[in-house]
Amino acid sequence: MTTVADSERLKSFVTALFQAAGSSSHEAQEIADHLVEANLAGHDSHGVGMIPAYFLHLRAGHVKPNQTPQRIGGDGAFARFDGQMGYGQPAANRVMDEAAAIARAHGVAVTTLCNAQHIGRVGAYAERLQAEGLLSLHFVNAVYHTPTVAPYRGSDARVMTNPVCIGLPGAAPMLLDFATATIALGKVRVAWNKGVAAPEGSLIDHQGRPTTSPAVMFEEPRGAQTAFGLHKGWGLAFMAEALGGVMTGGPRSGDGFTGERGLVNGIMSIVIDPARLIETQWLDAAMATLVDYVKASPAADPGAPVQVPGEAEALMRAERRRNGIPIDPTTWSQILACAEPYGLRAPA
Ligand SMILES: NC(=O)c1ccc[n+]([C@@H]2O[C@H](COP(=O)([O-])OP(=O)(O)OC[C@H]3O[C@@H](n4cnc5c(N)ncnc54)[C@H](O)[C@@H]3O)[C@@H](O)[C@H]2O)c1
Repeated sequence: MTTVADSERLKSFVTALFQAAGSSSHEAQEIADHLVEANLAGHDSHGVGMIPAYFLHLRAGHVKPNQTPQRIGGDGAFARFDGQMGYGQPAANRVMDEAAAIARAHGVAVTTLCNAQHIGRVGAYAERLQAEGLLSLHFVNAVYHTPTVAPYRGSDARVMTNPVCIGLPGAAPMLLDFATATIALGKVRVAWNKGVAAPEGSLIDHQGRPTTSPAVMFEEPRGAQTAFGLHKGWGLAFMAEALGGVMTGGPRSGDGFTGERGLVNGIMSIVIDPARLIETQWLDAAMATLVDYVKASPAADPGAPVQVPGEAEALMRAERRRNGIPIDPTTWSQILACAEPYGLRAPA
C-alpha cells in the first residue's frame, strides 16, 4: 500500500536517520530538507527514495559525513571547491552561499565544485540563489561505478544523466531543471520499484534496441538510457560532462578510474546579479508580459494548458503540502530497512 507522508514529519524522521548514521544535526537537516523538498516538487527520483543508495555509499565508505568543502583556487569572481567526498547537499549549499556573496560583490560569480557525493535536485541550488535575487546557470556531471546514458547514435552507456539548470529570480521566479537523459535514472528506479514500464524512447537494451523495460538498468545484460532530444540533448549531456567534470577538475566519464566511488557530482555554476543588467521592476513587468503571452496559446489538449518552467513544481508543491507525499511500498520498505538498525520507527 502506498504510504502518504506529511512533509514536516518526514523531514524530522529523515533528519533523525542521517544523524543516527553519523551526520551532525545541521548536516542531517540539510540533507533531509533537500530530499523532502524534492518530493514536494514532484521529483520523487531525487527525494527520500535516494536514502537506500546514500546508505549503501555510506557503508561502503564512499561518502564521508561532516565534510566542509575546501576552497582550492580562484580569485575575483571565480572560486573553485573540492567537496572532499562529503554529502553533496551541504557541500553545494556552502558553494552557492559563497557564489551569492561573490555575485553581490562582482555582479557575477563562476564557481566549481568537484568530488561531492550526489548533490540531488539541482533546482534546489538555483532556488537558493533566486531567494537572494540572483540568476544562475548550472552544468553538472555525474559519475557512478558504471555510466548509464548512451551517446546519440551509440549503443552502450558512456555518460550519466548530467543535469542542466537555469533559475531566473523575480516576482514570479522561473526554474528550468532537468536531466539530459530522456528521463532521470531515479525515475527508471521508481518505474522498476512500481513494476511499471518506462516511457517509450527512454531506454535501449544491451544490443541498442529500444525497450520500455526498466529491468535493463538493474539486471544483466545491462542496457542504457537515451539522451533526450536526439543530437541536441546528447550535445547538452556532453557539454555538461565537459563543464561539470572536465572544468571542475573532478571525476568524469572515461577518466580511467576502475573502482567504486559512490555517486559523485561535479557542478559549474554561473551566478549573475540581474540588477547589473536590467532594472528589477522592468524584469518583473517584462517577464509577466512574456508569461501571459506564451500561456495564451490555446492548449492542444484542453486538459493540459501551456506551462512555463517551474510551474509544474510549484503546483505539485502546493498539492503535496496539502495532501502529503505518496511513497510506493518498495521504496518505503527500503527506507525503513535503513532506519531499523538505529531503532528508528516510521513517522506516525
Ligand atoms: N544530481 C544529479 O546527478 C542529477 C542527475 C539527473 C537529474 N537530476 C535532477 O533530477 C530532477 C528531475 O529531472 P528530470 O529530467 O526528470 O525533470 P523533468 O523531465 O520532470 O523536467 C523538469 C523541468 O521541466 C519543466 N517543465 C515540466 N513541464 C513543463 C512544461 N509543460 N512546460 C515548460 N516546462 C516544463 C519543469 O518546470 C522543470 O524545470 C531535476 O531536479 C534534476 O536536477 C539530478
